[in-house]
Amino acid sequence: MCGIVGYIGNRRAYDILIQGLHRLEYRGYDSSGVAMISETGELNIYKSKGKVEALERYAVDKDLGGNIGIAHTRWATHGEPNDINAHPHYSQSGRIALVHNGTIENYSVLKEALIQQGYKFVSQTDTEVAVQLIEYIMTTNNCSLFDAVKEAAKRIVGAYAIAVVDRENPGQIIAARQSSPLVIGVGEGEYFLASDATPIIEYTNKVVYLNDGEIAVINRDEELKVYHINGADQSKIEITELQMSIEQLEKGGYPHFMLKEIFEQPRTLADCISGRITADGKSIVLAGVTDHKERFLNAGRIIIVACGTSWHAALIGKHLFEDFCRIPVAVEYASEFRYSNPVVTDKDVLIALSQSGETADTLAALELAKSKGAFVFGICNVIGSSIPRATHSGCYIHVGPEIGVASTKAFTGQVTVLAMMALLIGQMKGTVDAETLETVANDIRRVPTLIKEIFKLNDKIEDLAKIFTYAHNFLYLGRGYNFPSALEGALKLKEISYIHAEGYPAAEMKHGTIALIDNDMPSVVIAIKDHVYDKTVNNIQQVKARGGKVVAIVTEGDTVVKEMADYVIEVPQISECLTPLLTAIPLQLLAYYIAVNKGRNVDQPRNLAKSVTVE
Ligand code: AGP
Ligand code: GLU
Repeated sequence: MCGIVGYIGNRRAYDILIQGLHRLEYRGYDSSGVAMISETGELNIYKSKGKVEALERYAVDKDLGGNIGIAHTRWATHGEPNDINAHPHYSQSGRIALVHNGTIENYSVLKEALIQQGYKFVSQTDTEVAVQLIEYIMTTNNCSLFDAVKEAAKRIVGAYAIAVVDRENPGQIIAARQSSPLVIGVGEGEYFLASDATPIIEYTNKVVYLNDGEIAVINRDEELKVYHINGADQSKIEITELQMSIEQLEKGGYPHFMLKEIFEQPRTLADCISGRITADGKSIVLAGVTDHKERFLNAGRIIIVACGTSWHAALIGKHLFEDFCRIPVAVEYASEFRYSNPVVTDKDVLIALSQSGETADTLAALELAKSKGAFVFGICNVIGSSIPRATHSGCYIHVGPEIGVASTKAFTGQVTVLAMMALLIGQMKGTVDAETLETVANDIRRVPTLIKEIFKLNDKIEDLAKIFTYAHNFLYLGRGYNFPSALEGALKLKEISYIHAEGYPAAEMKHGTIALIDNDMPSVVIAIKDHVYDKTVNNIQQVKARGGKVVAIVTEGDTVVKEMADYVIEVPQISECLTPLLTAIPLQLLAYYIAVNKGRNVDQPRNLAKSVTVE
């Protein structure tokens, strides 16, 4: 999620806040804002959709005084990007201002309860619930801001990092975190607060990392105090002296955004799943689908249009929808679909799958289908982007900004949403029994943990990459759910290392491609224990018989493939339909390390853009 900055000390807060927001721009965002308490005790909030420059232009003639303030760059999750939904948010009385990173899962319940108490909301965000709840508790319990934030934090379910100021106490910032990071910079007579150390490092290298469940009391001219929301005693404060550069900090200490985003996937998938599988694991919650139940129940066909990595996710979606919903699925390259004079009727549901939500071909394809009467559903990552605005309904993958041009966490987010959608529609149609839904839904919940298991193979994969750094060609082979995984693995390698790689159905090899196999043509074969495992084992034998090197991705405990492949990477066992979520990880890492070994510009490969907004 996005960025928070705070300051309390003897300088003009606005200058520190704006510079801090600029430092956080690398994270991607859609709007920004600042709140300062002026010398005359005014709590001034200025905020604007768009870039920080837009905020600076808006604030240029405003009262920017005050040496305490908080600021925010927003990556919208609830409520489209606009001036009203931007943070900070006022409490109803105007006494308190709050900024928030993360998502409040139970915001609807909390909001309803506050409305019953007479609170009125001006934004569409989940965040506004937090600031109104804090004011409500302060008023009702006649307590301090600290006690109110502590109580509110106990009632909030979800991921949050928050910072709060009270115009009646201009010497204090209260900050709290659960799953979204917060760092406090300890200066000389001043404190800094931010989502990571990049806005802080130019002022002080002494930082305190807040831990989950902790709440900080940052008082001017006093020692920093940190508590646990469920405890009375102060937490021990550990000051870290940072030695990292700003650039290293932007990447969370990783050398590239791509590697950071690969390693973020356990958290981003937890965010993607959050609130979408009921606690008992028996139901899926996707309002964008259930609000249009009839369209899905009566769908004669599902068409999925996408490009690149999203097209690979779409191919997995085909398997999911046909397996669980028994609805025929056509997967189309958006660029082909838009010019192919397609037959589309009002019985069709078209899904536009796009991380950026701005891909020109995908947008054009959905507009064409919409003009022919199809029901159009968007699955995107960027809130309020063009595709979600053009569709009848949709849902977001909520994996946060993806900066690296090579898509990684968006791919696993897309596949996860498609799996949840297929289960939900299958349940609605009665084509998925309760036991199957529960088993697969429970496995979806296990994915973040299982991916962390695969990360233990990181060094092994890095060593493997050294062996293949100078390969000129690569074949990626897979079957069923993992044929698209083979395509995706090949795309990852070619787009960042510039090595030619081709994904292919393993069974199709004998129809020509096997002529390519020799000692100089390595093959990655995805041979997990699925219903076509034995056939894939035969394919490995065919490759080996022709002198080809084989890197096999297998299910943990496999003893058969180990006897024939040259290199083996094991992934944990999971429902077959979810295996692409696991097989993607070693293939992302393999491509990354080969590209690094070749000295490539991993985050911005040559000739490529993160979002292809032109034809
Ligand atoms: C994937 O690594 C590439 N960056 C590219 O293929 C990308 O998936 C494609 O351009 C589609 O982008 P979208 O998901 O934003 O529509
Ligand atoms: N969920 C909040 C919103 O949509 C915060 C998003 C963020 O982390 O920037 O406004």
